[in-house]
Amino acid sequence: MVKRAALVTAAAAAVLSTPWWLPRSVVALRMKIFARVNGEESLTVPNPALGPDRFEQLYGHPAANGRSKGAVLSDLFWYWLSPGPHVHQEHLEAGERYAEVAACTQAVLAGTSRDLTRAAARCAAAALDELGTRRPRLVRLRDLMMPIWASFFYELVFQEPCPPAVRTLITDNADDVVSALKCTRPRRMYRRAPLTRHLLRRLAAGDVPHRLPRGLTRREQAYYLQGTFFNTAVVQMSEAMAHLLLVLAEHHDVQGRLAADPADDRYLDHVMNETLRLYPLFGIAHRIATDEIDLGTGAPIPAGSVLCFSYPDYHLTGHRDPHAFVPERWETLSTKTAHHIPFGVAANRPCPAWRLAPLVMRAVTREVLTRFTLDSAVAHTRSLPHRAPCLLVPRERPLPAPAARAVRAFLWARDRCEDVGRAPAQLVLGTWMVLAARRRRMAETYFATHDTEGRPLPRHPRTAATAADGTAATPPDAPADHDGVAPAPEDGAGPQDGTGRPRCPFDP
Ligand code: HEM
Repeated sequence: MVKRAALVTAAAAAVLSTPWWLPRSVVALRMKIFARVNGEESLTVPNPALGPDRFEQLYGHPAANGRSKGAVLSDLFWYWLSPGPHVHQEHLEAGERYAEVAACTQAVLAGTSRDLTRAAARCAAAALDELGTRRPRLVRLRDLMMPIWASFFYELVFQEPCPPAVRTLITDNADDVVSALKCTRPRRMYRRAPLTRHLLRRLAAGDVPHRLPRGLTRREQAYYLQGTFFNTAVVQMSEAMAHLLLVLAEHHDVQGRLAADPADDRYLDHVMNETLRLYPLFGIAHRIATDEIDLGTGAPIPAGSVLCFSYPDYHLTGHRDPHAFVPERWETLSTKTAHHIPFGVAANRPCPAWRLAPLVMRAVTREVLTRFTLDSAVAHTRSLPHRAPCLLVPRERPLPAPAARAVRAFLWARDRCEDVGRAPAQLVLGTWMVLAARRRRMAETYFATHDTEGRPLPRHPRTAATAADGTAATPPDAPADHDGVAPAPEDGAGPQDGTGRPRCPFDP
């Protein structure tokens, strides 16, 4: 009888404590499955043999410069970041094509600090005013931020205000990409395709007032704009702002200080540095060694190794009390000498928005803080699978303390319950997408049939046909629906695609 009671008690305790142990165990299992499916080809730093002191030396090494070719991991990223991952800046190998694309990105992101700040503030004000300031609201911060950045980057690309319908196309696209990356939803190409079609139409009409990379076909230009500005830019800025605002919702003293003196950019910069130190947007950035790398440790790294740079691990080294959120530490630290690389390393393809991002994040934070106070009690992890639930209370109409406490308790309890369902779902979806990416082998197939400048390899029987007669053949081992976007009738993409170059056979 006593034994039975003990068993029942143990079972009840296990069930009731699922919110604490299940999500963590499932994440650990998911990482193991990913590592197994993707192979054991990689070297992750920092590690006991190559510590933090060698981290930036390795990252900045001239031979640590391969991006996609030769890593099984690339198939997964190409799958997640479709359509057109072969022309996304972050996936291009060094060379003329990369240089042209990178220069175009810089040109689109250029602007005076004043103009960029004003544009970001205007886009934020418009989106926040739509929300209204009459009553408190429960929001997911990532969802709140996405339309702001959709409008902002649309303005940078097209130099005109973003129509609401196009804003929806952009947020549908970005939301689908980031949800698939976090394995909270499957990849759904039908949510991305309408934006590709829109961009193709605009390109055909000559509506993009920037000099776009000439080495790309029109369809590739559409993929480039979609990938860089309406995927990477919108996703990264929304994630960064969700982290920043969630930090403020958790640390009322910090929030109070910023709200009291909105012009204190120095303190806001410390808060942003500390937020990106603890919650870097990149978990791992990878490179492929294009030559042997000798760091003088007595164990050279062979060419072809996949080098994985762990941002969270590196950011936790070299700081006192590294897990604590202490913005004040940046009063004495320098971002140049501290172990702090939220935008990558200058010597190896750093983020082109390194200057722009903090500038416009400041502007949007001010717009939020002048309207609302923020409160939340949800778990704060780097991957933010819950999209940062938060209570926004209009500054002019504060909530009575007991009501605020009740909402916090509700947010906390709902978050724990959601985690129990979300973690197994992520496990299933993640495994499914990893296997789908392995089956399609998009990067491997591409590099088996093209050189790193995107030219079909003559030795491949079917791409040789393409190069010779201009027919858009698909390589035999390429998946028919490799990015799920059927060529739009308005594309005008014949074999020559209007640019004089044979159309890339990797286009659908
Ligand atoms: C706070 C926001 C952002 C953060 C923290 C961030 C972070 C980073 C980091 C760490 C890298 C380097 C990864 C590596 O070494 O492989 C990177 C690369 C990149 N980022 Fe950002 N990013 C942000 C916003 C943006 C925005 C707004 C854009 C808009 C175009 C952008 C476009 C890119 C591109 C194209 C690359 C690849 C660069 C190359 O390979 O040449 N990022 N970003």
